[in-house]
Amino acid sequence: MEHVLARELNEALRGMTPGALLSAMGKKLYFPRGIIAQGAEAKQFSTVANGTLGIAVRHKTPLILSPLQKQAPGLSAGEIVSYAPTAGIPALREWWAGELRRKNPALGDAACSQPVVVSGLTAGISAVCDLFLDEGDTLLAANPSWDNYALIAEARRGADLRLVDMFNKSGIDLGALREAVSGEARQTGFVRIILNFPQNPTGYSPTVREAKEMCAMIRGVAETGARVLVICDDAYFGLRFEEDIEENSLFAYLADMHENVFAVKIDGATKEDFAWGLRCAFVTFAGRGLSGAHYDALIKKTMAVIRSTISCSSTVVQNLLQKMYSSDADTLRAEKAAYRAIIEGRYKKVRALVDAKKDHQVLEPMPFNSGYFMSFRCKNVDAESLRHKLLHTYGVGTIAIDGRTLRVAFSGLDDECIDEVYALIYRAAEELAG
Ligand SMILES: Cc1ncc(COP(=O)(O)O)c(C=O)c1O
Repeated sequence: MEHVLARELNEALRGMTPGALLSAMGKKLYFPRGIIAQGAEAKQFSTVANGTLGIAVRHKTPLILSPLQKQAPGLSAGEIVSYAPTAGIPALREWWAGELRRKNPALGDAACSQPVVVSGLTAGISAVCDLFLDEGDTLLAANPSWDNYALIAEARRGADLRLVDMFNKSGIDLGALREAVSGEARQTGFVRIILNFPQNPTGYSPTVREAKEMCAMIRGVAETGARVLVICDDAYFGLRFEEDIEENSLFAYLADMHENVFAVKIDGATKEDFAWGLRCAFVTFAGRGLSGAHYDALIKKTMAVIRSTISCSSTVVQNLLQKMYSSDADTLRAEKAAYRAIIEGRYKKVRALVDAKKDHQVLEPMPFNSGYFMSFRCKNVDAESLRHKLLHTYGVGTIAIDGRTLRVAFSGLDDECIDEVYALIYRAAEELAG
């Protein structure tokens, strides 16, 4: 039976593209008017005492163990151990919303939802798949893709993850992408696609021209009447190492593209702020014609996923980040630029080494221009055998993505070992090929 609150949210989204895309689980989810909502109301209006939340307080301050408090002297007890709001701390969400606009000038004045805080991009992708991906649905993604997409889309959601060979030797194979997207639209009337740039594992980002053509293609499919969900996994946003790369997330162009296009941006501190294990990311929705009431319903649906899985994201993490963002913007920007320059320096080094082996008979680099990684397509050798030999004969760790793709995370290679690592990769490949 549909819960009355779920029905209200579904009604709010009826007729709109996100409403049409909701999964069976997405339709069932609602944010209860229970403990969290009543607690938030009490926080605002309880003048004498607040007996709502399941925490222990003394003199209106949460109890905190002093050895714990000592570890974070810059934060109050509440900023460490109290529960954060389900959708995240408002000031942090506000800050991220402002940054999202600053970093994506093409977004202009297009409306989008307030970002919802999740515990890392993985949690964001999983929440969005819970809401919009059903058993039997197809989710398009690049071949190769980050392996967690299969776990989330197929193992968790029972959907079909269709990997599209969307990279050719020099960049994006727009023909292959167009065929996959329009084929899906023709067959089902729906397109669900996850796009990740800079990409894992290739390290490719679209050029300005490619981004324009991808957008035109999505618009074209939407104009045929298909409802299109584009999930932008922007984990590595900002790591652009070539001049011709599109500086905006595709989300910026999709946000106000067409009534049939629903865009979801998933981004976060994980890679952008060099805070991998901190677990803080954001989910932001946008689509032409969506109003504040629609965004409110989408946020409540997302809060329902959060409430029913982890309840809320870490308070101390959100406060640490919020304080960092608001404390010294100049230092923050300068250090981030310096760290990005380290990765860019490694990219340039790898670029030169790989370019010098352009016509290698075993290893062919996939296009790469950004992010943390590059991948080789292996000709006549098995990528797993190559990985194994590299590790166990030469002591070099790499990842075999599939039988023909070897990924190297140059972001994690100290500058002084890059020459040696790449010499060993080529040597091992040649030895295996005989
Ligand atoms: C493409 C891509 N998306 C998402 C993630 C996950 O990010 P998080 O650690 O915030 O869950 C990764 C991490 O490796 C990634 O490569």
